[in-house]
Amino acid sequence: MASYDVIIIGAGPGGYVAAIRCAQLGLKTAVVEGRETLGGTCLNVGCIPSKAMLHASHMLHEAEHNFAKMGLKGKSPSVDWKQMQAYKDETVEGNTKGIEFLFKKNKIDWLKGWGSIPEAGKVKVGDEVHEAKNIVIATGSEAASLPGVEVDEQTVVTSTGALTLAKIPKTMVVIGAGVIGLELGSVYSRLGTQVTVVEYLDAITPGMDAEVQKSFQRILTKQGLSFIMGAAVSGVETAKGKAKITYKLRKDDSEHQLDADCVLVSTGRKPFTDGLGLSDLGIEVSKRGQIQTDGHWQTNVKGIYAIGDAIDGPMLAHKAEDEGMAVAEVLAGKHGHVNYAVIPGVIYTHPEVANVGKTEQQLKEEGVDYKVGKFSFMGNARAKAMFQGEGFVKILADKQTDRILGAHTIGPMAGDLIHEICVAMEFGASAQDLALTCHAHPTVSEAVREAALACGDGPIHA
Ligand code: NAI
Repeated sequence: MASYDVIIIGAGPGGYVAAIRCAQLGLKTAVVEGRETLGGTCLNVGCIPSKAMLHASHMLHEAEHNFAKMGLKGKSPSVDWKQMQAYKDETVEGNTKGIEFLFKKNKIDWLKGWGSIPEAGKVKVGDEVHEAKNIVIATGSEAASLPGVEVDEQTVVTSTGALTLAKIPKTMVVIGAGVIGLELGSVYSRLGTQVTVVEYLDAITPGMDAEVQKSFQRILTKQGLSFIMGAAVSGVETAKGKAKITYKLRKDDSEHQLDADCVLVSTGRKPFTDGLGLSDLGIEVSKRGQIQTDGHWQTNVKGIYAIGDAIDGPMLAHKAEDEGMAVAEVLAGKHGHVNYAVIPGVIYTHPEVANVGKTEQQLKEEGVDYKVGKFSFMGNARAKAMFQGEGFVKILADKQTDRILGAHTIGPMAGDLIHEICVAMEFGASAQDLALTCHAHPTVSEAVREAALACGDGPIHA
């Protein structure tokens, strides 16, 4: 038995970042992780491998559609699926090894196995019980199940199985037009799969700015994805490696069926807290399974904290990382803080979609007097040179004070561009502050400045 200042359960982006910060702040730290490698869902079977696949399939798309236009002639490449998988695995491995190195460097103990909390101050891993002044639960989330749909991770898959399919399917039905469905759906669409997305609501990517939703769906449709909107999937049957999907249209309750080689279930995720012993400890959990915490990420049991997907808020790796750093600071007697109003969201398709702050719909509901500054990438020379003139940057600012309240973009490198607006919002900047900041030419970032100019006297290139 070993004794620690803090034991963190789970080595995903929340847990491993918390551990590194705890160690940096002088706390004796251990992390419990049952997977063979560190990094959690995000690094092993989520964000990182999917980004490798998005990159590889985007390169193929560029070769097929844009190379010849630039005078790069020749046969476009064919897909070596095994090699693409190996590239994806190597990408993951390099990063998981990197975290192991950081653990050694920071003298963090990795307690290998699945942890449970027999009582406050104790963590059980296998047969061993370790002591800790404080415990942080960072156990993440898992795919939510859908009634009538049984996942086998071969024909009917979650994002995990979708990353390791034996071969590229000819047809795929994606259930749910959320982030996972659209990212992985567009990977397979670019690899030649005929992808049909079935979505319950009337718009894709729930909660996003309505203009972005419309533009995004139009662009994805142009890229070859099909959408069946307002349709609830009620069941999937499989036989001989094929699937039959049954859905009902909400408008008239009519029932329809679709056949596919593969079905991706991407209808949301739920906190993963199995086996921790939460109910025996009396830890409060919401109806949706989220651990309830106070403003310092402490549960109702003293000395037990929780962060990341296991608690309230957007299920995003970077939100978990921020909470990881902040909870470490709290445990070290400092003042950990997360500004939940400025957490960017990014969908890593091509073009990328990125947002921060309030949507127009939210501002309307809240009765805020706002103005809109919008700029199309068609007016941006750099984007056009890369055949990426589609999309726009939209900045929402307070009509009286000009303070930036939100931004919604779809276009080249949107996931990077959004951060200049995040920084501006952290500093309480006005749209004019952004508009008066010199932006290098030619960059796609100029579109952000132009959108900020559009909040004032108007953009130059529109
Ligand atoms: P989601 O919550 O983003 O979207 C699920 C969609 O499924 C919704 O549009 C919903 O209306 C639809 N749906 C639910 N039941 C249905 C049914 N029976 N038939 C048809 N449609 C149905 O969920 P998703 O994509 O699984 O993502 C889960 C979580 O992972 C999200 O919180 C997301 O933020 C996070 N994530 C974030 C990424 C990023 O930031 N790039 C990447 C991957 C995941």
